[in-house]
Amino acid sequence: MSTRRQFLVGAGAALTGMAAAGRASGRLVPSGNPVDPLRIAGSGMDGLEKPLVVSTWNHGVPANAAAFEILSRGGRALDAVETGVRVCEADPSIRSVGYGGLPDREGHVTLDACIMDEKGHAGSVAFLQNIMHPISVARKVMEETPHVMLVGEGARRFAVESGFPEEDLLTESSREAWQQWLQKADYQPWAPQSDPSLQPAHDTISMLAIDRNGNLSGSCTTSGLAFKMHGRVGDSPIIGASLFVDNEVGGACATGVGEEVMKTVGSFLIVELMRQGMTPQAACREGVRRIVARNPKAGELQVGYLAIDRHGRTGAYAIQPGFQFAVQSKSGAELIDAAHWDF
Ligand code: GLY
Repeated sequence: MSTRRQFLVGAGAALTGMAAAGRASGRLVPSGNPVDPLRIAGSGMDGLEKPLVVSTWNHGVPANAAAFEILSRGGRALDAVETGVRVCEADPSIRSVGYGGLPDREGHVTLDACIMDEKGHAGSVAFLQNIMHPISVARKVMEETPHVMLVGEGARRFAVESGFPEEDLLTESSREAWQQWLQKADYQPWAPQSDPSLQPAHDTISMLAIDRNGNLSGSCTTSGLAFKMHGRVGDSPIIGASLFVDNEVGGACATGVGEEVMKTVGSFLIVELMRQGMTPQAACREGVRRIVARNPKAGELQVGYLAIDRHGRTGAYAIQPGFQFAVQSKSGAELIDAAHWDF
């Protein structure tokens, strides 16, 4: 089980710069301390840590920095989780989210996203094309329609009517990767995240935040599995699968192979387990165990869960080594290796 934990030096100044650049380029220093799975998020804290933001993968570092700017000014968790993941949606070098995301097997970039607020309101979009910020469209679905989810052409039309610009999201670099993939057309949706030769298979950004008022919100946005079948939608826009927030309990979110997350309704499961008294860490582990227990091929795929409870305690667990999550609080910013299943 990995226990590596990294603190970001000069968190405040460095992270502001990173957010502007849209990349995690700060110096990372291994702390040498093991991760205490029951710890309070934010190093050295012995009580409730507010505000707090957590998100998946190292691209969560600049995303958290943007979110924390809002939280530290006393802003709402909902605004923070939308603003945070927009950093990744706009970054063409992140090839699993938004602009520059790897396309499906027919060369179309199709995006999925969802958002939830402290009152249990939810919005989502799926199979959305040519709109850079699906998370903001999802928020508009939540706030300005009587529905939870819009898909495909209907979602695109709603976005355009709401003022979102239409843009070609396929960058030259992603087009080249797709054309290279076409030479063999070898579909590897189950590729473990830890195998660099198969990167990037899936690294959705999911984010959870708790604001100064103790309110929780969450967001999730992705271009989905690289070179997926045209029309494929994963867990990311599915409330309860990729994301669930209950202000009285906590929030959970997912990354990885969405089919497995959907079949176990992972994030809802984790929040319900926390409601029954499990720590975020134990609940995330149980979410992974449900996948591993029912799928003999689980060792060939990656799913990572991340959770916080309403007290600001964090937990994370993945099937494979390699899943990292980013944490930012007034104590600073950290990038932490999640615990993983021991096959
Ligand atoms: N978790 C992202 C996807 O499967 O599309």
